[in-house]
Amino acid sequence: MPTPDSLTTASHKDFDLEVVSGSWPSDISGEMLFSAPALSGALPYGIFDFGAVIRLSLNPGTHGAPDGRFAWRVGSIESPSKRIFDAMPEVFTSSPVGYTSPFGAPNSSNTAPLPWGDRLFTTWDAGRPVEIHPGTLEYVAEVGHVDSWGGPSMFGDTVLPFLFSSAHPVADPERDGLWTTKLEPVMEPTFGMRPSVVWWDRAGTEVKHWPLEGIAFAGSTHTVSQTRDWVILCDSGNFKADPGEMFGGERTVTIDDAVPVWLVRKDDLLARPSGTPITPTCFTVSPPNGHFYARYDDSEGISVVWEGMDLMDLALFIRPDDRDVHGNPVNPASVGLYNMAMAPETITEIQFDPESGKVLERGLHRSDWTWNLQLSAMDWSTEGLSEPTLHHVNYQGCRPGRITQRAARLYEDRIDLARVAEETPGYLASFERGSMELRSRWEYADTSDLITSPTFAPRDRGSDPAASSYAGGEPGGHDGYVVQPVLSDDGFRVDLFDASDVGAGPVATLRGTKRECVPLVLHSAWMPTVDTLADAERLRFSDELSEARLAGLDDDQRRVVARIAEELDG
Ligand SMILES: [Fe+2]
Repeated sequence: MPTPDSLTTASHKDFDLEVVSGSWPSDISGEMLFSAPALSGALPYGIFDFGAVIRLSLNPGTHGAPDGRFAWRVGSIESPSKRIFDAMPEVFTSSPVGYTSPFGAPNSSNTAPLPWGDRLFTTWDAGRPVEIHPGTLEYVAEVGHVDSWGGPSMFGDTVLPFLFSSAHPVADPERDGLWTTKLEPVMEPTFGMRPSVVWWDRAGTEVKHWPLEGIAFAGSTHTVSQTRDWVILCDSGNFKADPGEMFGGERTVTIDDAVPVWLVRKDDLLARPSGTPITPTCFTVSPPNGHFYARYDDSEGISVVWEGMDLMDLALFIRPDDRDVHGNPVNPASVGLYNMAMAPETITEIQFDPESGKVLERGLHRSDWTWNLQLSAMDWSTEGLSEPTLHHVNYQGCRPGRITQRAARLYEDRIDLARVAEETPGYLASFERGSMELRSRWEYADTSDLITSPTFAPRDRGSDPAASSYAGGEPGGHDGYVVQPVLSDDGFRVDLFDASDVGAGPVATLRGTKRECVPLVLHSAWMPTVDTLADAERLRFSDELSEARLAGLDDDQRRVVARIAEELDG
């Protein structure tokens, strides 16, 4: 089958899981968080839909689960955007890139959970980070007053500002702030998007931003990475807006074979006033990638894992009238999901000198089985980021039922149709950091299983005052567990692996007590258990409601905004 029907037919709900094989270890703790778009069916491309956040508790008998059971708990992100939509859905129009409305473009915040110390945020590429209560999963606030972002990216100054940003901001462990991006259209040096680096020190309600001088490009900045001294941005390359498609035409834009990378020194940014342009150091990487992760320690050069997305065009989605590469009508349950990879994917780690641009070392893995490099798991503790050992990667396998003829035609000079003829198994694979040598892998031979976003849970060794709050046993990604969710129409499962030897198979498996199915989920992340909301100064929705931003609204629409502002302020 192409992918489980339950990706779109199941709905998000609370349930409990139980151990159905193996034994659950006692030295695991904390929570696994997921982000997901709600897939209401109202949008042609589901990944733009409003966000949900989900928490799987890794200790049984907590968060409302009975003894011996594991709580799966769902929260809808009740942001100002979502509340306004629910009050007046009729004034929101849908397009291949989400909703627009007289209120502006909503922030769906549906892509990735971002735990940061004792606080939890969710993110997406077309909006600001959103803070969530880690205990109740309720909406708390958006990050940074829009004026401090330098105004919206485009579409006018409205109640709901459109901020084209990054789904993967990164928390700076030493400066206690968050690095992210803002993109805005410019005419110089060519027509395109100009990226800015954005910094939020989390003490207040304002961010700082510094445009990258002389840079204009046509893609997106999905991931932000960092070393001790550098911020690293990259054109993700695999999501390019197509103006023709937005106006109802056929898509003609294709993804690139190589993409630009921009590096800026953190101290050079923080030393200048917000809004002052800065000239980055520029490189190129190939293939394009969605996600990349630098080793934090840069004393011997900068080392970055690039999770390649060879022939993975994330802007292509499946329409009801599509046929797959074999000429069969697409599965109706796949409509609105993205078109899957059209080639096996490459993972590389490149170590380079940021001043000279000289490549010092390179590791690479690409095989016949490395299809649909989905997402990865790593040790996000400060200690683990400085000394990474293992990088755990999901490959979902080749899924010809989710590659459309339309996509194959668009890429006819780049796709090898013979290679996408058969379904292939999924794999959880562990690569050695630096060399990208394959250390271990586990096969998911049953192609009715679809593995999705894994996470690394460090071994719980009790509290150690000398360690950071996310640190476990030995740092790096080998000492602990890889938590591997498996989507299936036969019931959602969670496989738990010893991170040092995923090839030995799961040490335990959880399944819903009623074999519940789970719909599409996107990124996951691990965080220690936190059930209270940290004290902090936060932006309120009402802080941004100037008369100018309300000017385009009629009386009924203004009343909706006023009511929601009152609800949220209360
Ligand atoms: Fe992502």
